[in-house]
Amino acid sequence: MNLKRLQWLAVLALTGFSLSGCERPPVDSVQVGFRGTGMELVYNPRTLSDQAALNTAPPALPEADKSGPRAGAVYKNVKVLGNLSVGEFNRLMVGYTQWVAPEQGCGYCHNLNNFADDSLYTKVVARRMTEMTMHLNATWKNHVAETGVTCQTCHRGQPVPGKIWFKPDESKLAKGLLGQRNGQNAPAPSVAYSSLPNDPFSAYLVKDNRIRQISQTALPQGINGNGSSTQATEATYGFMMHISDALGVNCAFCHNSRNFSNWEESPPQRATAWHGIRMVRELNNEFMTPLTKTFPPNRLGPTGDVAKVNCATCHQGAYKPLWGEQMAKSWPELRGNPGRVIKTASGGAAK
Ligand code: HEC
Ligand code: HEC
Ligand code: HEC
Ligand code: HEC
Repeated sequence: MNLKRLQWLAVLALTGFSLSGCERPPVDSVQVGFRGTGMELVYNPRTLSDQAALNTAPPALPEADKSGPRAGAVYKNVKVLGNLSVGEFNRLMVGYTQWVAPEQGCGYCHNLNNFADDSLYTKVVARRMTEMTMHLNATWKNHVAETGVTCQTCHRGQPVPGKIWFKPDESKLAKGLLGQRNGQNAPAPSVAYSSLPNDPFSAYLVKDNRIRQISQTALPQGINGNGSSTQATEATYGFMMHISDALGVNCAFCHNSRNFSNWEESPPQRATAWHGIRMVRELNNEFMTPLTKTFPPNRLGPTGDVAKVNCATCHQGAYKPLWGEQMAKSWPELRGNPGRVIKTASGGAAK
């Protein structure tokens, strides 16, 4: 073999290697938006079939008897579910076990010698999660609509939902000659393996920084300001990568890519997403963060913060969680009541 051949082989091998990051055909594309706008969504049938099992709700349990004494009158320490009949209450406990702790059973949340005891943190968390779920179903209809949510939407048969986030420990990132890296230039799963800033969540899903690329002021003001700097633009794109990845869609699901800012040309899904961003902020600030001290240290993140929710926590790669299956319909116990006041951490009532 002469040198030329060897060089060719090397080139071929390198091309093969660099293309292996691309998806193997076939891929399907679906046209959305007006004709000629080129708004296409690209799907990979293999990814879709892998997702089918993940997006199937467990079979509903037979309906419970709604008559008879209330759980609040029969049991000793029922603070949220007191209005249910004993039948409905027990059906829901079986549901909790199936969705959150199928391997561990009732004992994951209960002292089995005394079900009224609150000594396990898991029970205290589950009580607050019950209020959170009811609150979502009753007051966030502009996002969850009639599809609604149950514990299964996030938990999928696991005590710790598969998709959660913590604040990254910046001190672990190499500083050296590069100075402050702003979480960049290391492909991160939080931004779908792009090298955009790796924490798009603290600024947008806890704080309410503006999600913008175009500055309305003369001088840039950094990610925390109201204007838009290069930094804020990068963070916006990082967050958009998360959203697309979390829902398993392209940008055209919510934007006409000829003008990302323009609302008039955006599909209605963008408005649903807008409400979703506000909803997730509320979940993190009013429900998750106040539970920080309730969780044991091994459940907290590298900087001591509690696990938090992002778009993937419910969506898990699907445009609607469980592909829109209306599982909450079989669980009226979790419907909640818009008139019911759920105390938030800040002392007021959740919106
Ligand atoms: C994921 C956590 C979780 C699991 C698993 C769970 N429970 Fe519960 N259970 C709770 C919570 C939270 C309450 C309190 C509800 C309230 O305050 O409204 C409760 C309350 C109860 C009570 C009322 C006790 C009293 O006297 O106050 C009974 C009885 C009960 N559960 C039975 C069960 C049974 C039986 C199982 C297993 C089939 C089970 N639970 C599984 C979270 C759980
Ligand atoms: C919007 C998403 C979401 C919904 C809906 C939800 N949870 Fe959670 N849950 C979380 C997150 C996030 C955590 C924190 C993970 C951790 O434990 O570190 C959590 C933690 C828990 C834990 C503690 C588990 C452990 O081992 O630390 C219990 C118990 C729990 N949830 C019960 C429930 C119950 C019961 C419901 C339904 C009434 C419910 N959750 C609904 C997101 C959700
Ligand atoms: C599920 C819906 C959804 C998807 C998918 C999505 N976006 Fe967005 N995007 C939004 C929403 C909602 C806003 C406005 C957020 C706000 O103001 O709170 C936004 C804002 C933006 C902005 C800021 C516009 C401005 O006014 O400055 C840019 C740029 C952007 N998106 C780009 C993208 C890109 C690029 C992708 C694909 C990688 C993408 N988006 C995918 C919903 C989406
Ligand atoms: C608490 C669970 C939950 C979280 C967290 C969540 N969603 Fe959703 N989302 C839902 C449910 C349920 C639906 C289905 C509503 C329906 O049937 O119209 C939905 C629907 C949507 C839709 C409309 C899809 C369509 O085809 O009409 C968009 C867009 C969306 N979500 C974006 C987001 C974004 C962006 C985030 C993160 C900022 C997010 N969601 C976080 C539960 C959630």
